Amino acid sequence: MDKLIIEGGIPLQGSIQVSGAKNAALPILMACLLAEGPVHLSNVPRLADIDTSLKLLNILGCETTFEGNEATSDCVDLKPEAPYDLVKTMRASVLCLGPIMARLGEAKVALPGGCAIGARPVDLHLRGLERMGAKFEVTEGYIKGKCKGRLKGAHISLDFPTVGGTQNLLMAASLADGTTTLDNAAREPEVVDLANFLNTMGAKITGQGTSVITVEGVTSLKGCEYRIMPDRIEAGTYMVAAAITGGELEILDCPFQELDAVTYKLREMGVWLQEEEGYVLVRRANGLLANVDVTTLPHPGFPTDMQAQLMALMCFGKGAGIIEEKIFENRFMHVLELVRLGADVRLKGRTAMVHGVNKLMGAPVMASDLRASASLVLAGLAAEGTTTIERIYHLDRGYENIEEKLSGVGARIKRVSE
Ligand code: EPZ
Repeated sequence: MDKLIIEGGIPLQGSIQVSGAKNAALPILMACLLAEGPVHLSNVPRLADIDTSLKLLNILGCETTFEGNEATSDCVDLKPEAPYDLVKTMRASVLCLGPIMARLGEAKVALPGGCAIGARPVDLHLRGLERMGAKFEVTEGYIKGKCKGRLKGAHISLDFPTVGGTQNLLMAASLADGTTTLDNAAREPEVVDLANFLNTMGAKITGQGTSVITVEGVTSLKGCEYRIMPDRIEAGTYMVAAAITGGELEILDCPFQELDAVTYKLREMGVWLQEEEGYVLVRRANGLLANVDVTTLPHPGFPTDMQAQLMALMCFGKGAGIIEEKIFENRFMHVLELVRLGADVRLKGRTAMVHGVNKLMGAPVMASDLRASASLVLAGLAAEGTTTIERIYHLDRGYENIEEKLSGVGARIKRVSE
């Protein structure tokens, strides 16, 4: 398995290009199942999860290509079954359920297991689809769905603004018979990007980005061309990289508006950010960082996908800060690894108390999930000495060319295969 070796203590200087958003590209690739005709996507990040999604599209009867950052998919012979050995490697595969039910009226999709950060149930996805006329049974590890005729438009009120649930229901409702209203819908920018993509295919969706989304079902959707939005979490991760190393970075193609809650907290800590034409300039303002309190919430609140990265920065902040993780029940797997580097972080349930320290010392650590890995890279960039991070296949799921991008701004980071 690959590992990363980082020599810390070097202030990063230069420009970093943000790639396309993983969490927009994954649902949009599943939405290609809805199109009668080829779809051409640009700004698609080269990530393990994208490869997995394209493999799933092939299994479901699509012809796909992936050259550079351009992907195409043509759904020539749609099949209803998504097998376990693929779904278990990527939970987001469950996003094929809505499109398959909408087009075939039946589906057999492996129940996605949990993952390191939580149980990750899909009950809200199923309940919403049942409101549209689908019937499900969950047996032998599979979600088996059936619907007599077309799905029907319905009024759906979500118990929680689930991102994936909103996306599955948006895709299903696009081809349903009648109008669907989604109350308490997720407002994440990646949900908006999916809705905009669906509208480019001919769907009739309004309200995306607010808590109430309305979808007027149509009878068919056509192929189209679409550019994936830039990745706000990757951009936020590199903002922290500039601050934690005491350097200055130009972050190119940064979706600054979608990062309000993150930039607010960074500024509160003493990070200086300036939005320019086509890029954002980030550096540590006057050398000192002050710790803050943060609670992860659905968008537009502070994103859970930036929690681990902010914690790494807080390890160097003056004073104490409290992090509350309200979205996932087990998203502190990075804490004990940060402690191995000398961080002072104490856990109590879904709350972490971080006391800043003067320095971290490099050590061997282990990645456990995607954003925990990013947190360890950030800490390693700022720690004195050498940090070795094992199991970095987690990192490869969400960060395109991370060691090239960081080396390009002065980091001493290299990947070795064991
Ligand atoms: C998406 O996951 C993202 N993944 C996650 O990013 C992100 O952390 C999450 O949204 C929250 O922003 C992709 O987009 C591929 P949810 P998703 O459904 O859709 C509970 C990363 O690091 N819930 O909003 O699975 C669930 O247990 C990944 O890039 C139910 O109870 O998130 C969780 O506690 C990690 N029942 C909470 O809602 C349901 O039916 C949020 O889940 C669905 C969700």
